[in-house]
Amino acid sequence: MAKVKYIAGKEPHAKEHRMIFRNVDREGWDTSLATYQKEGGYKQLAKALKMEPKAVQEEVKAAGLRGRGGAGFPTGVKWGFVPPNNTKPVYLICNADESEPGTFKDRYIIHQDPHQLIEGLIISAYAVGAHLAYIYIREEFPEGAQILETAIEEARKQKFLGKNVCGTGFELEIYVHRGAGAYICGEETGLIESLEGKRPYPRIKPPYFPAAMGLYLCPTIVNNVESLCHVKHIIDMGADAYGKLGTPRNTGTRILCVSGDVKKPGYYEIQVGKVTMGELINDMCGGMKEGRKLKAVIPGGSSSKILRADEKFTLKQGDKDVEIGIEDIPMDFDSLMACGSMAGSGGVIVIDDSRAISWVLNNLNTFYAHESCGQCTPCREGSAWMKKITDRIVSGNASPEDVDTLESVAYNIDGKTICAFGEACSWPTEAMVAKFRDELIGDTDGKNAKRPVSKETQEAAKNLKSLTT
Ligand SMILES: Cc1cc2nc3c(=O)[nH]c(=O)nc-3n(C[C@H](O)[C@H](O)[C@H](O)COP(=O)(O)O)c2cc1C
Ligand code: SF4
Repeated sequence: MAKVKYIAGKEPHAKEHRMIFRNVDREGWDTSLATYQKEGGYKQLAKALKMEPKAVQEEVKAAGLRGRGGAGFPTGVKWGFVPPNNTKPVYLICNADESEPGTFKDRYIIHQDPHQLIEGLIISAYAVGAHLAYIYIREEFPEGAQILETAIEEARKQKFLGKNVCGTGFELEIYVHRGAGAYICGEETGLIESLEGKRPYPRIKPPYFPAAMGLYLCPTIVNNVESLCHVKHIIDMGADAYGKLGTPRNTGTRILCVSGDVKKPGYYEIQVGKVTMGELINDMCGGMKEGRKLKAVIPGGSSSKILRADEKFTLKQGDKDVEIGIEDIPMDFDSLMACGSMAGSGGVIVIDDSRAISWVLNNLNTFYAHESCGQCTPCREGSAWMKKITDRIVSGNASPEDVDTLESVAYNIDGKTICAFGEACSWPTEAMVAKFRDELIGDTDGKNAKRPVSKETQEAAKNLKSLTT
């Protein structure tokens, strides 16, 4: 493959492995079908259409692709959940809601390489037997929706979509559906409700596992934008070669979105597990801001549990248990889970020693209290209570007992709700209270009064003081 030239100043880091983001920030690249085809675009579709749908599924399963939307569930296994004796239509939905705070990768694929997504989507629809696919895109991405509409029209004109895809008799239409602008619209069953024209109230599982009872109660596969793009590359290189990227249970590449207190925040595509947290922060992101030290990392989107900079973790290496520090954690699904957190949606939020944890937690609690759909009492009430308590802590109006109450509220949400938002909103509190209890209590009894805090923390304290007194 020809060497790619990138826009000056936007070149990938030497430790990156650009596959999905190969064309992002590429010099002379545009979103047209002509440009995409010049680089071999839609050849993988032609290749896939020569295979049996089941063989495409098996290839994706053998490649070990795990979903990039949050849970890391194996994509090929999920596709196999469509009931074998199904007589109803099957739908495929591309989840382009990208709502998890700290995550900003799908939008770049859509904005800069829409045909890669469309090609992956067509191959995936063929594999699962869908003749209708939706791209559910967040309301706040109007330009992205327009780019996709244009790309779909171009693909339709070239017979990559329609009644007779590439002359094979396979039929597929893709529609772009603009979302309702809520975090919960990213949760797959909330998304399906929204697509049906209703409030995005998540459905209870069981029985509403989308692969069996999804859109209009028909079998439905929901996949993330990045996951669907990987399918095209698996067909291109074959499961074996794809499986050699990354590490054995964590194959391929993935895009990490780094935000927070590093010198060079941004997107970095790595081979899964081949880069450690230390390499990511210190090499790829240029290290911490001048004069600042690493305090903690939220490694997989805002819902993932925080990791302290001075924490020790135990990882299995072969038969041995090895103790490691935060900088040695390989950036993959299994390692981050073994360290008590998760790789989630790939949003890595780096926190330095100028940040008060009460401010960080309050920021998240404000978001979750606003975004709860309100169906379940523990989540609706609890997320608002957690916000009120951290409002009090940040503004200096809390008592030390408030920290215990905060923790107890979180544990009364976790595992007691209809959808995983319950965990998403309680895990940050559970982990931050467990790991920064002294600091949080110190915020309530004046012991932290002299510590240096960032401008944002001081600003939040000032604003909240006027609200809570
Ligand atoms: C509250 C909540 C929000 C979510 N938001 C998104 C999102 O914005 N994008 C996404 O792909 N998955 C999101 N998910 C995960 C989806 O429910 C679903 O698991 C995912 O789209 C499946 O795709 P994958 O298997 O390709 O990862 C969210 C889950 C929860 C619980
Ligand atoms: S857990 Fe929260 S977001 Fe999910 S259904 Fe219940 S109230 Fe709605």
